[in-house]
Amino acid sequence: MCGIVGYIGKRDAYPVILNGLKRLEYRGYDSAGIALYDGSTIQLCKTKGKVADLEKKVSEEMATKGNLGIGHTRWATHGIPNDINSHPHFSNSGDLVIIHNGIIENYASIKKELINRGYTFYSDTDTEVLVNLIEDIKKNENVKLGKAVQIALNQVVGAYAIALFDKNKPDEIVVAKLGSPLAIGIGTDEFFVASDASPFIEFTNNAIYLEDEEMAIIRLVREIKIRKVKDDSIVAPYIQELQLNIEQIEKGGYDHFMLKEIYEQPSVIKDTYRGRLLADKGIIRLGGLEDYIEKFINADRIIIVACGTSWHAGLVAEYIFEDWARIPVEVEYASEFRYRNPVITEKDVVIAISQSGETADTLAAIKLAKEKGAFVYGICNVVGSTISRATHSGTYTHAGPEIGVASTKAFTTQITVLTMIALKLAKIKGTISQTDYMVHLRELELIPTKVESALSKNDAIEKIALLFKDATNFLYLGRGYNFPVALEGALKLKEISYIHAEGYPAAEMKHGPIALIDEHMPIVVIAINSNHYEKVVSNIQEIKSRKGKIIAVVTEGDTVVRELADYIMEVPYTPETLSPLVTTIPLQLLSYHIALMLNRNVDQPRNLAKAVTVE
Ligand code: M6R
Repeated sequence: MCGIVGYIGKRDAYPVILNGLKRLEYRGYDSAGIALYDGSTIQLCKTKGKVADLEKKVSEEMATKGNLGIGHTRWATHGIPNDINSHPHFSNSGDLVIIHNGIIENYASIKKELINRGYTFYSDTDTEVLVNLIEDIKKNENVKLGKAVQIALNQVVGAYAIALFDKNKPDEIVVAKLGSPLAIGIGTDEFFVASDASPFIEFTNNAIYLEDEEMAIIRLVREIKIRKVKDDSIVAPYIQELQLNIEQIEKGGYDHFMLKEIYEQPSVIKDTYRGRLLADKGIIRLGGLEDYIEKFINADRIIIVACGTSWHAGLVAEYIFEDWARIPVEVEYASEFRYRNPVITEKDVVIAISQSGETADTLAAIKLAKEKGAFVYGICNVVGSTISRATHSGTYTHAGPEIGVASTKAFTTQITVLTMIALKLAKIKGTISQTDYMVHLRELELIPTKVESALSKNDAIEKIALLFKDATNFLYLGRGYNFPVALEGALKLKEISYIHAEGYPAAEMKHGPIALIDEHMPIVVIAINSNHYEKVVSNIQEIKSRKGKIIAVVTEGDTVVRELADYIMEVPYTPETLSPLVTTIPLQLLSYHIALMLNRNVDQPRNLAKAVTVE
């Protein structure tokens, strides 16, 4: 995820773009850049760091003249965050300047071709490839910028929201969208371009939201031409009147980042497997894994180190790896691992999981594992983060910035990556049947739709939250793959609502926690269709006979648990191996609503920080 802003009109473009970037910083904040054009010279400034760093650099190094400009705040995907990889990017001639939010999946092959044709690349980005492809087409086919953009976009695979201009056309910006958002603000004799309307809301309420595979040529003479990228057909612009305030817009209309991030899960899970999972062809391709596959296959065991929610994702992985790939797995709290003189050998593979990539305990565990000769693989969300650099190799989740302190989309995207790794290893080792392998690839592709369906039950969950918001304790129970989900559900509730909650394997209840059960104790039980269903039903009976209040997560259509439980939260049927990706959704929503009803600071709960960079 990145934020893009553009302006063409009568004002100085710089303050409009700078303020716009500040408002879009929630979309990415590892680097930022700006290009301004005054009709004769293009001024460009970019830097690793936040928009504030860019502002400082501009004040020291750049003239801020110009009524046309584009700016970008980056969430790195291709190439680590540094000055060179920051946007905007020039084409080789220096005539075209582009900003891009998205991923060009086939950039490597296009880059190779362009290099053969004499192009030079200065950054590691897919974006620089795109701008040079456009330049190449424009030159060789002798077409205008808009046409060249259209031809180029028909050659690329991936997602994009782009804005670019040509030094030879000081009155024009070209934009296009597929997958990533793009809004055009329409003022009087001026136009704005942005990832959402927040950069221009104080200037105009009129906006056009481009649809996928649409492009627009925006000319200063108050003219916008929208066309379909595929067939060049003209689209009549639909101008909406916005009725939003800035804060609402930054949160995409949601009241909190956490809620927004919960609802983003269908799309970010898709982003995480896009280009890596080719279900029809039976292929899983993970860049960071291909060169090290032998290390995994020959490993004596896999040790997973992580903290908090990432540790819970690791626990899910333990089930998946052992089930499918038949590799022994140990899951360790990074904070314990680093201090307990663990036995590690060169035959061990250590997987470090971290959303932020900055967690101090996980980083220390990685250092220890490396000192002892283990191969260390990272699964991080933040590109270029310390952990992603400290590991030998790894895979990024593509969850986009997670702002809410309570991890939600990081959890499901981590499990998505871990599932792909496990399936790939199982396939190579021959420990999974071809049928099971293919079924699971297809099922993984269906997860976004199933998550959407689980999200659609929000209203029912909100009603349950209202009934239990004043409880002082909660128990969460699950078995097998859903035991870690019970732990995660309890963690979500305690960290944002401050209600005490404990997660347990359902079978362990009788070894102690059962003493807590009375008519005041709400117990969330994950009781979906699975190998453990009958056993979980027995656990529910045990709770019921002690008058505990049962809130059950059940598979749609379930009749048995529906009869026994006091309240149910339904999720669509999902194979047990993939079910944590879906069963976790109602638990996230339940915590969110309870916290909200208790007037807690949902996005920034007390005493917590998004990245725990201290011991
Ligand atoms: O960035 P990391 O994944 O390394 O963070 C680990 C934990 O600090 C984190 O998951 C924490 O538990 C969250 N607040 C949970 O919602």
